[in-house]
Amino acid sequence: MITRSRIIGCGACLPDRIVTNAELAARIDTTHEWIVERTGIFERHVAAEGECTSDLATRAAERALASAGIGASALDLIILATATPDHTFPATAVRVQGRLGMNRGAAFDIQAVCSGFIYALTVADQFLRTGQAQTALVIGAETFSRLLNWEDRNTCVLFGDGAGAVVLHAEPGEGNARDRGILSSHIHADGRYYDLLKTDGGPSSSRSIGLLRMVGREVFRHAVIHLADVVGEALAVHHMTLADIDWLVPHQANRRILDGTVRKLGFAPEKVVVTVDRHANTSAASVPLALAEAVADGRICPGHLVLLEAMGGGFTWGASLIRM
Ligand code: ACO
Repeated sequence: MITRSRIIGCGACLPDRIVTNAELAARIDTTHEWIVERTGIFERHVAAEGECTSDLATRAAERALASAGIGASALDLIILATATPDHTFPATAVRVQGRLGMNRGAAFDIQAVCSGFIYALTVADQFLRTGQAQTALVIGAETFSRLLNWEDRNTCVLFGDGAGAVVLHAEPGEGNARDRGILSSHIHADGRYYDLLKTDGGPSSSRSIGLLRMVGREVFRHAVIHLADVVGEALAVHHMTLADIDWLVPHQANRRILDGTVRKLGFAPEKVVVTVDRHANTSAASVPLALAEAVADGRICPGHLVLLEAMGGGFTWGASLIRM
């Protein structure tokens, strides 16, 4: 017998305000057609003035707890993935912990930008499998709208705000791929690419939080290569092929990265969960938002084999293979 981390609840939260491509085209030199053709994005949600990452995270967490049928007092760990914390410190996870009324266990943030949720899931899984925690809340939450130069058409059209969360519970497994729960996770980083996608500020390097900077073409090229590689790595560990996967839940960076990766892999496009058209790139929130949506609408069912993947600034990238 081994311990598996099973997903027992999912939740999501998007800010009410929707910003369409037409609205952006009225402000900057772009068009709805250009954005759709190059990115597949039609609209994105943007946090209201004063609405913070912790607000979105708390609402997603409450919904995940409700779908798991447990209260916050049952949790002994909260890990929140974000590159847009409410404050430089304390961790936004602690703020969410306080709002949920959970006052025991541990709570901390993880920073791996768009791969943050996969990193957080990987860390939580280690805690559960070693017996250091029984029930964990893993959240990906971002307000990337605060990092954007809204005059820069190269970047501001690409991102949105949101949060997604899952509740993990430690349960016994047989140690084979029929077990329900996280079967394996695979995370990577390569700091040689630090400057290709970053903010030009931060508490140690400047007095401002900075704005997002990106070498779009290079990010695109590396994303397709790394994502296809890490999917292959996850499958190889379990002697599986893509035919075994019921659903691919990829990071929603843009439609062309998504299509390029799926084409390179030779995966069936109808088994890919896509939200980028409505959410844009919500960084660490994109995978749990897409997962929560596909669970809520009944596409992803108990027993399904689901592969999550993401890549982000750093570069960081990773994948998790999960039996729901
Ligand atoms: N509207 C109109 N024109 C635009 C816009 C816009 N919003 N943005 C850029 N352009 C222009 C450029 O200024 C350029 O004009 P020029 O030739 O006169 O200089 C022209 O379009 C072509 O620019 P490119 O950058 O070469 O366009 P490209 O086809 O590479 O598309 C894009 C740009 C969409 C950013 C692409 O590189 C991409 O998808 N990169 C991946 C980036 C990404 O998704 N990042 C998300 C974070 S990373 C992650 O999550 C994995």
